[in-house]
Amino acid sequence: MPVLAIIGAQWGDEGKGKIVDLLAENAHVVARYQGGANAGHEVVVGGESFILHLVPSGILHPGKINIIGNGVVLDPESFEAEVNGLRKRGVKVDGCLFVSDRAHLTLALHKQLDAAREGASEGKKIGSTKRGISPTYMDKAGRVGLRPADLNDADYCKSIIAANLYEKNILFKELYGVKPLSAASVFAEVKRHFAAVKPFLADTTGMIHKFLAQGKNILLEGAQGTLLDIDHGSYPYVTASNATAGGAASGTGLGPTQIGRVIGVCKAYTTRVGEGPFPTEFDAKKSHIVRELGGEYGRTTGRARRCGWLDMVALKHAVMVNGLTELAITKLDVLDTMAEIEICVAYKIGNKTMTRFPASVSELDRAKPVTKKFKGWLSSTKKARSLKQLPTNARTYLKAIEALAGVPVGIVSVGADRTETIFVNKKARDYSF
Ligand code: IMP
Repeated sequence: MPVLAIIGAQWGDEGKGKIVDLLAENAHVVARYQGGANAGHEVVVGGESFILHLVPSGILHPGKINIIGNGVVLDPESFEAEVNGLRKRGVKVDGCLFVSDRAHLTLALHKQLDAAREGASEGKKIGSTKRGISPTYMDKAGRVGLRPADLNDADYCKSIIAANLYEKNILFKELYGVKPLSAASVFAEVKRHFAAVKPFLADTTGMIHKFLAQGKNILLEGAQGTLLDIDHGSYPYVTASNATAGGAASGTGLGPTQIGRVIGVCKAYTTRVGEGPFPTEFDAKKSHIVRELGGEYGRTTGRARRCGWLDMVALKHAVMVNGLTELAITKLDVLDTMAEIEICVAYKIGNKTMTRFPASVSELDRAKPVTKKFKGWLSSTKKARSLKQLPTNARTYLKAIEALAGVPVGIVSVGADRTETIFVNKKARDYSF
């Protein structure tokens, strides 16, 4: 089946945008399957940087079909701004961008609730992006969400809004001390936003299956990463969707047997934004050095990312829960000036040594990394375009990652630009599998 999924193998920000952009060249369709405007996928084309929040990274390749799947939560305000921004920069969106009529809509009330929950002194701080993601998925699961498919039926919309506000206004007023919302104002917002989204709406599941039947290549673009997955991540410090490969099936309407190849994107080290355990995190000084070398600031919120060594316990968990068939290692060049590099191969928790990624957040919090040390290569990798052109110590580091993860490395990225990439072999960019 010519369907390939690209998944974040860490805590998000692995450089998926660049890998999707590269593999989009040979794809016919690029589809986002989960998350929403909390994502910030950066693609650099000819020195020009594009940050995409909702629109699939395939949009930067003329002639591709780009789909926002049913598993995505769509903030129409952010969508409209992004589409207009792309149009202004000369990127064609009309006729090549489609939004699922089953995607759930993120409204002002969701963003207001996200901010109120994060701000509440008694509440649990997750370090959310405050883009209304978790409240939208809460409403989806609570059966009071709105989908574009419902918006032509005003009476149905009004009944859902009334049911939704019945609970939300109690929270806003009684718990968080913020202004309650009127059903009329939410309905007016929905109508206004519907106008912006309507031209793009489609039965995207039907479209994907039609293209599949025609033998077209389909690329599924994940947002966030495995360790932020609601089921398999470092719960509760996670996002509200399934960022893993299972989500790629449910979030597009494909069956799991229809996905042929699953690429895990993984930095040569690790970063995370927001709260939550991070066993291999550097001390403040080293974190600062790597953050500056790697430009580790969130593309959506501008927040400084926390940095640490590559964590093989977490990566092996990602290989397992996604059924990864290969890895794309990004930002290898950021380690160019390190004399010594470490990989975490196990966790020490109390007097136990664990190689399984713990389900318990308090265990993960107490985990101390057991590391294996590697000699740095202390030279630039930025010009390498094949494995042979990499310094020996960099090749040794990549080989160790492959051996420990148990899956091959197909792509290595040594800079932000499209050209700064090593495809290990021809198969790495191919859809015939
Ligand atoms: P939410 O998805 O905005 O609810 O945020 C939940 C957690 O996921 C927070 O720790 C965020 O920092 C993190 N998160 C959400 N989206 C991204 C992303 O695209 N990259 C990295 N972290 C993210």
